[in-house]
Amino acid sequence: MNKKPNYYNHNGFLMPMGFPIEGFTSALQYQAQESDIFLVTYPKCGTTWTQYILWLMQHQGEPLSPSEKLETYIPHLEEVGKETVEKLPKPRVIKTHLPYNLTPYNPQAKYIYVARNPFDCLVSFYHHTRGFVQHYDFTDGTFDDFFECFIRGKVDFGDYFDNLVPWYEHKDDPNVLFFTYETMKADLKSIIIKIGNFLGNKYLYTVENESIINKIIVNSSLQKMKKDQQRWSSKRPENMPSFVRKGKVGSWKDYFSPEQKQRLTEKFIMKTAGTGLENLWLD
Ligand code: A3P
Repeated sequence: MNKKPNYYNHNGFLMPMGFPIEGFTSALQYQAQESDIFLVTYPKCGTTWTQYILWLMQHQGEPLSPSEKLETYIPHLEEVGKETVEKLPKPRVIKTHLPYNLTPYNPQAKYIYVARNPFDCLVSFYHHTRGFVQHYDFTDGTFDDFFECFIRGKVDFGDYFDNLVPWYEHKDDPNVLFFTYETMKADLKSIIIKIGNFLGNKYLYTVENESIINKIIVNSSLQKMKKDQQRWSSKRPENMPSFVRKGKVGSWKDYFSPEQKQRLTEKFIMKTAGTGLENLWLD
């Protein structure tokens, strides 16, 4: 039998073993506030990069000290539960991997959704799952093992497409900003400006401030984020790739067999039919 990561099953929704179960239950009960900003992603789609960009936008592009943790300021709702989030001063910025129907909703709150192509997401998720020993016990799992879990949607936070498609259907809502990891890689400046315009208030100053934008781009670069990774990730075994890893578009081609490529492409086409999503990543 194939090796499987260790999850707990919460009414059909899989969660990392290392997450306290109470966090998930209480997360679902969080009352979204009018001033809340939610950063929503499926795992491995550029969450931490965007999370740090939001933090840098709040701090004139100045970096987070190596002795601090990003999650103190922008916590992961399902990991910490609603009580911790409620202690944050408003306006709150909250990270979540929840699908649309489970995400706390307020029509005045703002939702930033970052998507990434499922092929690179899968590879990144494989390394993530191997690396977090305390969450998954999957250090000796192979790429093929993980592929089978992902394609069946039997991974933590559920099926990739069940997260992406309903959020994508809301991409033109006035309180939703949707963009992709690939666009961040291609033109980060335009994404920072989009975020500034979308959030307004204390984020708006960035839009016309070239030197702050440049500072944000430099301080959120892959090279800079590879330094002092304890700011966003717990320690991993020496032989595992670091949390901030390759940060590339298209490196899935080094992992997928032709058959795996075909199977995920077929699932992509089936799950996204009629949504327009097929134009985003499939050639
Ligand atoms: P790879 O594993 O493909 O390298 P998340 O934060 O949602 O878990 O996403 C993690 C992915 O984002 C990883 O992808 C990681 O390397 C990448 N990433 C993190 N910081 C980045 C940055 N500054 N620039 C580009 N990619 C980054």
